[in-house]
Amino acid sequence: MKKDFLAFTDIDEHELESIIADAVRLKHLKSAGTAHELLRGKSLAMIFEKASTRTRVSFEVGMTDLGGHALFLNPQDLQLGRGEEVRDTARALARYVDAVMIRAYRHANVEEFARYSTVPVINGLSDAQHPCQVLADIMTLTERFGDLRDLRLAWVGDGNNVCNSWILSSSLTGMEIVIASPPGYQPDGRLIDQARAAGGRARVVTDPEEAVRDADILYTDIWVSMGDEEERAERLKALRHYTIDTRLLAQAPPGALVMHCLPAHRGEEITDEVMEGPQSIVWDQAENRLHAQKALLVRMIAGDIPIP
Ligand code: CP
Ligand code: NVA
Repeated sequence: MKKDFLAFTDIDEHELESIIADAVRLKHLKSAGTAHELLRGKSLAMIFEKASTRTRVSFEVGMTDLGGHALFLNPQDLQLGRGEEVRDTARALARYVDAVMIRAYRHANVEEFARYSTVPVINGLSDAQHPCQVLADIMTLTERFGDLRDLRLAWVGDGNNVCNSWILSSSLTGMEIVIASPPGYQPDGRLIDQARAAGGRARVVTDPEEAVRDADILYTDIWVSMGDEEERAERLKALRHYTIDTRLLAQAPPGALVMHCLPAHRGEEITDEVMEGPQSIVWDQAENRLHAQKALLVRMIAGDIPIP
């Protein structure tokens, strides 16, 4: 049966562990210059309803590294942009390609695409989830800490799609996610309940200092996500006390790491000083999108094959 990756509920703890282990192997193979064309002759369709730098380039380069091919598809150039239904596009594309990655405004559209596609579908970001980002972040933390169980991640700012993926991943990693957001910008309580029911640990506070006090990792993301542009002024006002700056970082334990999925708006959710500072690991996160997604693609397209 084909497997999709729309959210962390699509994989279990063992699958996560083996994707991360494969990602680390693929990273070593690439840096050693060893060919690893595990997806030779395979094609990935990539549909982007929204802008992207990292997701687009890492998936495209990832397929090339693996001996396959990626097609960048802009909905404006597809019949989708002229009203062809998602379910019809999904069924037609599945007759040509081996997997589809889709970045969409509405998570429901990603789910509908996956329901009708006969090939695996990967969520490259929706309004609700950004699982590929958090997959790469889990790889980055695994490289740093080895075992993630009992690490505490403080999410500071908007309780958005990336935050939601952290919440759902907590039942697989054993990490505790403490979210500091103002009222109105907190993640949906039902998602927290869902993660807890699966054995995860996530809780919401309003005070950023309380969240970072015992945190191993501080994480933030832009305050105005794609699709939220009309709310810019009110978001900047509501979130103005949630910047990760040197003052907030000083409240965290000395070795705490700072993460950001990027793109960043320096001076809003994070200061230039913190982003460029020694505790920031944002570029490792960006790099690991490539390796983690390659491992995901191999698993979804070729199945559970050994990586040399
Ligand atoms: N973090 C991330 O998904 O970046 P892009 O929007 O550039 O793909
Ligand atoms: N929350 C951001 C993430 C960008 C990678 C957005 O949805 O725009």
